Amino acid sequence: MSSIKDFVSSEFSPIKGKTSWASPSNIALVKYWGKYGDQFPQNPSLSFTLSKCVTTTSVAFKPREVKSDHFSFSFLFEGKQEAAFHPKIETFFKRIAHYCPYLIQHHLDISSSNSFPHSSGIASSASSMSALALAIVSMEQALNPELSPIQFAQKASFLARLGSGSAARSIAGPMMSWGETPAIEGSSQSFGTQLAQRIHPIFETFQDTILIIDKGQKKVSSTLGHQLMENHPYASTRFAQAHEHLKSLVTILSTGEMEDFIALVELEALTLHALMMASNPYFVLMQPNTLAVLNKVWAFRQDTKVPLSFTLDAGANVHLLYPKENKAVVLEFIQTELAGYCQGGQYIEDQVGAGAKKL
Ligand code: PMV
Repeated sequence: MSSIKDFVSSEFSPIKGKTSWASPSNIALVKYWGKYGDQFPQNPSLSFTLSKCVTTTSVAFKPREVKSDHFSFSFLFEGKQEAAFHPKIETFFKRIAHYCPYLIQHHLDISSSNSFPHSSGIASSASSMSALALAIVSMEQALNPELSPIQFAQKASFLARLGSGSAARSIAGPMMSWGETPAIEGSSQSFGTQLAQRIHPIFETFQDTILIIDKGQKKVSSTLGHQLMENHPYASTRFAQAHEHLKSLVTILSTGEMEDFIALVELEALTLHALMMASNPYFVLMQPNTLAVLNKVWAFRQDTKVPLSFTLDAGANVHLLYPKENKAVVLEFIQTELAGYCQGGQYIEDQVGAGAKKL
């Protein structure tokens, strides 16, 4: 599939069935910040697919008795009715209805749960939207068994993107890119691409320990954040920089050059925050404890020469990135020096993973 019209499925006779998927979160190394049109990214991005932070979603579907223009679904989150999630799902269904005409012909009972605490400040949109998108494409496959594995993965990523941009990168592991770039063959604005280039073995087991600095709700929604890039004074320079960074990162990921990796990934994280600090209105998303952790990480790296680095999402939490061979010494450092900066001493040990799984 390459053109958007290829993602529009035919109409089928409705049937009954059930499907379940576990889909991971991901952490961007080159960040997506700024979009246009129907959720297209202003620059390409590339992320590590995670393995332990996952959303599990089941969808039971059956033909609808009453025809209507409205979608028919129920939603349970961690076993409880959650009306608060309904508008988000309804909006998502409206966005994808054109590509999935079978949705309106079925009633869906959706149930979902996260492996990570709900109020940990960890954005769950990538894992939750990709899990739901995968379940919907599984439903399509039940209706149309001819859907090939490539068509399946591309359509799942395409639909996930329409739910939350970064969700397009949660389908496969260990790394995915999204957004057209000459550095990655087959890359697309519409869906994510599994990194097929040679990857140095050090990155296949890379660790990501997420320090929970602030469990609070995000201070800036992604929607607003992306909008702030529309009239941002540094937008065009940033988008050009992201293209260059992505190209360099593809080389670094094959050579395993750790110093270059650290310099690029930390610059990307700080650039994301700098863009927000220079937006109108402006936002400072780091907390004092975020900055304290960054200083500790820099000092630790200088003293021990352990290749520990960080990246940041659009929030105060810190993702610590390091090779598996350094796990014992880094965890010791976290427990003794960094856990005190985490809310409730909380951190989550994750690592690069293999992508979403059908259950
Ligand atoms: O997927 P969204 O619209 O929530 O945007 C995510 C943006 C960042 O997480 C900050 C960066 C990224 O590429 O994941």
